Amino acid sequence: MCGIMAYLGGRDTVEVLLEGLRRLEYRGYDSAGVAVSVDGKIELIKSKGKISVLAGLLQNNKPEGRAGIAHTRWATHGPPSTANAHPHPDCEGHIAVVHNGIIENYLELREQLEKEGHTFRSETDTETLAHLFEKYYEGDLEAAVRRGLKQVKGSYAVVAMSDKEPGLLVAARQYSPLIVGLGEKPGENFAASDPSAIIPFTRKAYLVDNGEMVLLTADKVQVKTLAGKAVKKPVFHIEWDAEMAEKGGYKHFMIKEIFEQPHALRETIGDRIVGRRMGLNLEGLGLSDGYLRRLKKIAVIACGTASYAGMAGQYAIEKLCGVPVIVDVASELQHRESVFDKSTLGIAISQSGETADTLQAMRTAHRQGAKLLAITNVIGSSVAREADGLLYIHAGPEIGVASTKAYTSQILAMLLFAVHLGQVREAMTPRVARRLLRGIKALPELAEETLEEAGHIKSLAAKYKDIKRYLYLGRGAHYCSAMEGALKLKEIAYLDAEGYAAGEMKHGPLALVTEECAVLSAVVAGPHYEKSIGNLQEIRARAGRVIAVANKSDKEIAKYADDVIRIPETEEVLSPVLAGIPMQLYAYYVADIWDREIDQPRNLAKSVTVE
Ligand code: M6R
Repeated sequence: MCGIMAYLGGRDTVEVLLEGLRRLEYRGYDSAGVAVSVDGKIELIKSKGKISVLAGLLQNNKPEGRAGIAHTRWATHGPPSTANAHPHPDCEGHIAVVHNGIIENYLELREQLEKEGHTFRSETDTETLAHLFEKYYEGDLEAAVRRGLKQVKGSYAVVAMSDKEPGLLVAARQYSPLIVGLGEKPGENFAASDPSAIIPFTRKAYLVDNGEMVLLTADKVQVKTLAGKAVKKPVFHIEWDAEMAEKGGYKHFMIKEIFEQPHALRETIGDRIVGRRMGLNLEGLGLSDGYLRRLKKIAVIACGTASYAGMAGQYAIEKLCGVPVIVDVASELQHRESVFDKSTLGIAISQSGETADTLQAMRTAHRQGAKLLAITNVIGSSVAREADGLLYIHAGPEIGVASTKAYTSQILAMLLFAVHLGQVREAMTPRVARRLLRGIKALPELAEETLEEAGHIKSLAAKYKDIKRYLYLGRGAHYCSAMEGALKLKEIAYLDAEGYAAGEMKHGPLALVTEECAVLSAVVAGPHYEKSIGNLQEIRARAGRVIAVANKSDKEIAKYADDVIRIPETEEVLSPVLAGIPMQLYAYYVADIWDREIDQPRNLAKSVTVE
């Protein structure tokens, strides 16, 4: 949510800042701006709209300087406008600030500063920081930022510059992600809210922790606590390479990432399944066998798509291990006082690892004595750092706002954990474990086979293009497929789509079914097959159109559906990985027909770092 990029060095500063912003645009795209230090002055250029608008403005009026800060915004306080775009200056334009997060006490601070004579130009909480730093500035930006931040309640990743100290940037972090990029060659350094912004320039980084401050010049980076104590940081190596964050010939990141799923799933498996005997090695899990044997309940903490991956895990863990699993969205879970205790394991699932709701619920869980396992994509992210145990999904950068490859990889990681838990608790025989692991190992190839349906799914999207109301239904392992399918269509095609447990139809939603409604349902072999067929019959009896996602070997399904999308056979508990793919493709092709902004849907952002 919002992206920050900062640079000091000898390259074309504006070009570096714009390149970083373009890679961060998925975090927010309401407005953008840069501030560059030029001959002892700060030049500020910003605009409403996407980075391309800003780039256009800069083409004819490019500030030449050796230090700059930049921002792409997802509006929280104040609507999208040029005035509300970052960077924000102080009264006289001597200081400029970019910020992600929320200053919770900004109204109180603003009132006080206005009384003291400061003039505000925007409606943002961020502008308060610029005026606070101005108030405390006595020739030392570091001291001003430190004093200013002492007054602040809330979350921030902030970078400030002053025209009086042109070669210096001061950054700080509290609960919003911040990374420092260390120049591969001497004489340049970077700061950003996300590694993807700096990977074209460097892979060496410091992961800034909460309560830390960073002083950056082109030649030196010093990390301190907010209290001023020096901190020695290990250099972190970013593994993702620049090409992974490019579109690579695809029309959108989303479709590229859908097609990357076989690779992403292979990476999630990595060397975790070993040898012909199918040994399972979850190195780094960080949860002892003794603890896993003792735990009594699991609660999945996640938002949106990640929570639906959690539902797939819930089904697998309950079925294979006999351990009860609660799944609730993190924004609710953080207030459910009696869910967590010492015998409950919280599993936090998050692609970005920076989702504020998820982090808050993790903190609730920790306070109440629970242990936490993180399943995340971003190495060193806040979710990873605040958990007791870790399973990285290694899916590679996911740039499209709609989550695709992270979803299927998250399910796969949950499945690996389910098998591990089942083995440790002796809830499954070694034979069953081997069978499941063999099935998991085959998933990347089966995902490739599933992707072969893309052409057929594209033609279905065209066939049903005038349908405006969708229901997505699923039972058992595929309740999650229904929820995720509907979310994808809403998110990128802007169509009404509801996900339901199929058994709920008769309790209300059936009233929505007419010939103007299409129903997508995953109906795969397993204990819920017959009842799912029953639901399809109910729909067709009311003139609804049915698109079924069913197994290749299913000879019956065509009788109950208008159209069928085929997926290969696998164990029922593993099948959500495959059923997720047609749901993504259908949403993508429908959205493309309507010419939606697929990678950056309206009102949304990739990483939601505010509550
Ligand atoms: O980064 P996270 O996995 O924590 O993000 C959680 C949700 O915001 C995210 O999955 C969201 O629902 C997706 N945009 C859906 O495609």
